[in-house]
Amino acid sequence: MKFDKAAGPNPTDAKKIIGQPHDRLDGPLKVAGRARYAYEFHDEAPNAAYGFILGAGIAKGRITALDVAAAEKAPGVLLVMTHENAPKQRFKPGESSPQLHNPEIYHYDQAIAFVVAETFEQARAAARLIRVDYSREVGSYDLDKARATATVPTHYNGDNSDTAVGDLDAALASAPVTLEVEYRTPSQSHAMMEPHATMALWEGDRLTVYTAHQMLHWAKRDIANTLGIPQSRVRVVSNYVGGGFGSKLVGYGDLTLSALAARQLGRPVKVALTRAQIFNHTSQRSATIQRIRLGAGRDGRLTAIAHEDWSGNLPPERAGNTGAPSENACFQTRLLYAGANRMTATRQARLDLAPGYAMRAPGEAVGLLALENAMDEMAEKLGLDPVEFRILNDIQHDPEVGPERPFSNRRLVECLRLGAERFGWNRRNPKPGQMRDGDWLIGYGVASAIRDNLVTASHARVRLLPGGRLRVESAMTDIGTGSYTIMGQTAAEMLGLPLSAVEVRLGDTNFPEAAGSGGSWGANSATSGVYAACMALRAKLAARAGVNAEGVSFADGHLVSDGRRVPLADLAQDQEIQAEAGIEFGDLTKTFAQASFGAHFCEVGVDRYTAEVRVRRMLTVASCGRILNPKTARSQCLGGMTMGIGAALMEELVVDKRLGFFVNHDLAEYHVPVHADIPDLDVIFLEGDEDANSSPLKARGVGELGICGVGAAVTNAIYNATGVRVRDYPVTLDKLLEGMPIPTI
Ligand code: MOS
Repeated sequence: MKFDKAAGPNPTDAKKIIGQPHDRLDGPLKVAGRARYAYEFHDEAPNAAYGFILGAGIAKGRITALDVAAAEKAPGVLLVMTHENAPKQRFKPGESSPQLHNPEIYHYDQAIAFVVAETFEQARAAARLIRVDYSREVGSYDLDKARATATVPTHYNGDNSDTAVGDLDAALASAPVTLEVEYRTPSQSHAMMEPHATMALWEGDRLTVYTAHQMLHWAKRDIANTLGIPQSRVRVVSNYVGGGFGSKLVGYGDLTLSALAARQLGRPVKVALTRAQIFNHTSQRSATIQRIRLGAGRDGRLTAIAHEDWSGNLPPERAGNTGAPSENACFQTRLLYAGANRMTATRQARLDLAPGYAMRAPGEAVGLLALENAMDEMAEKLGLDPVEFRILNDIQHDPEVGPERPFSNRRLVECLRLGAERFGWNRRNPKPGQMRDGDWLIGYGVASAIRDNLVTASHARVRLLPGGRLRVESAMTDIGTGSYTIMGQTAAEMLGLPLSAVEVRLGDTNFPEAAGSGGSWGANSATSGVYAACMALRAKLAARAGVNAEGVSFADGHLVSDGRRVPLADLAQDQEIQAEAGIEFGDLTKTFAQASFGAHFCEVGVDRYTAEVRVRRMLTVASCGRILNPKTARSQCLGGMTMGIGAALMEELVVDKRLGFFVNHDLAEYHVPVHADIPDLDVIFLEGDEDANSSPLKARGVGELGICGVGAAVTNAIYNATGVRVRDYPVTLDKLLEGMPIPTI
């Protein structure tokens, strides 16, 4: 089914089941420990051997000598694979992941050997016996130093070219109020709960990989490319995924090495990365430097807006299947605010660290940390309330293109106004350092949120089984987000069945290819695929009932046509009726600027003696098109807000700039917010939000919106509390304390 014009009325508008806060279908399985993750397919391979990846101890250079004799003789060892004996593999940048294919070291903890043994402990112990000699080369590990050599990235598929409209320099020169600021954000790690893990199993020349992955058809393509076998011989299973955040959009050493070793040994091989390996072996969000220039009239209207970003990465031929994207922190600035004279520019420098890759709203998540702080600084210069300043610069079309490219649905102003009212924004004192609660300095902060709305092809099969139950099958993934539930809700709504009559099976490439989970495109695209399949099934059922498909409706387990009611169970009495179809998206995202919007409001307390920051409460008002399930959508936003608090206050991969690796490679020292850090968070979705230009479901992306802008609301609140503006994320108390007055005791 092609989606190339605005969706008219359709069966999903009934919203008897869609739009309702149904509990997650997979909830009981997870609570009971019965949802199986990649490492847990014990029954399928009771004789699986265990692999352990040995990572490089240097960041850049080459292996000059390897001694594996002791490892090979160690108890239980079945195989020691290094670049000296690894099977030949193929490399296609961004679409393959060869491992151990040469003696070169591209980044610290890159795989240099793979040991397979009867037990995990034996494999790990043997790996420690391998002796390696390296010749070390000088690498580039410091974005500040590499910045001067940064260039426009040309290899990446996104639109990295500079944009410019009007005469920015003239507008800045003539603006009565201007701002020029530079912000820094650090490298960050995805830090999802489930480590990367794969079990590979060969049956003849057919490979099955049970792996933790967000995008099954990418995994299938990548492994087939790497091994040089047809995709038709690869099956990827990923029924449940314990979080991804971008880290599992691609595969790493576990995926390729388990497949290679299992083939060689004629025995299933499983491997899970240790927590410590994840930080340097996989990928990370690149650090950024961002320069923002704003110019405005005294009336507060922006006349000039410029955003440049610098990030770093390995060259694409060294970045595995990530494709070495840049962290496009300036992209949202092309769309968010009005301003006749404007520019954005993305620059990428070479860094010899683990590949920089998509993480939790790549681009916007860190771009808004800078832009929304700069907007706060500018509002203060203009003497304007930061909420009013944002509202004043709202725009209903793509500001780089003009009115011919309107937003499909943009309700940022309503988000800001409703949020301000519910939060009690009018209690804020615009002068920093004035609000107190005992020894706590209190501050309020606001930030806008925007996240691009992406949609992608997605297919599903729906089967009306004898007895009248409906089964949905799709290679979609559920990475903890609620895919099972909303896809079940869609099918139930479309066929007029209760949700309890629907079963959903996901995460297997034996099912029709689906959107996968990434870039907030999953929910909207995958439910649209279910919609297409259900439309096809409705037509088949109508034909079977001998009625015209046009006037038919489905309700209460019946097909209804001209007053005739036929139980669905009767139609499928003697044989199952199934339909498979998918959605393909045309170019409506080009005709209409499409994005989800929101506004975050935050209250912090800062200890006036120690500069300890506590977030005290936070409210997000979001506009994401139709909300398919308010419960799962709310959970997505709460997660995003929590991550935003982490970005503001604690998340940082610390680079050893001499040796070139992330030092804090565990969750004891890579800090993410825990329960004690997260107070009362609330989310409101705007009522009546339906985006007919986005999809048949009239929804937009939700998953990543919650993180976009949050960190800036936190740091703007810190400024309001203290009068100290830290432009180097995260805002840890040492940076804050320097600027705070010494309190009189
Ligand atoms: Mo997302 S960072 O595209 O999983």
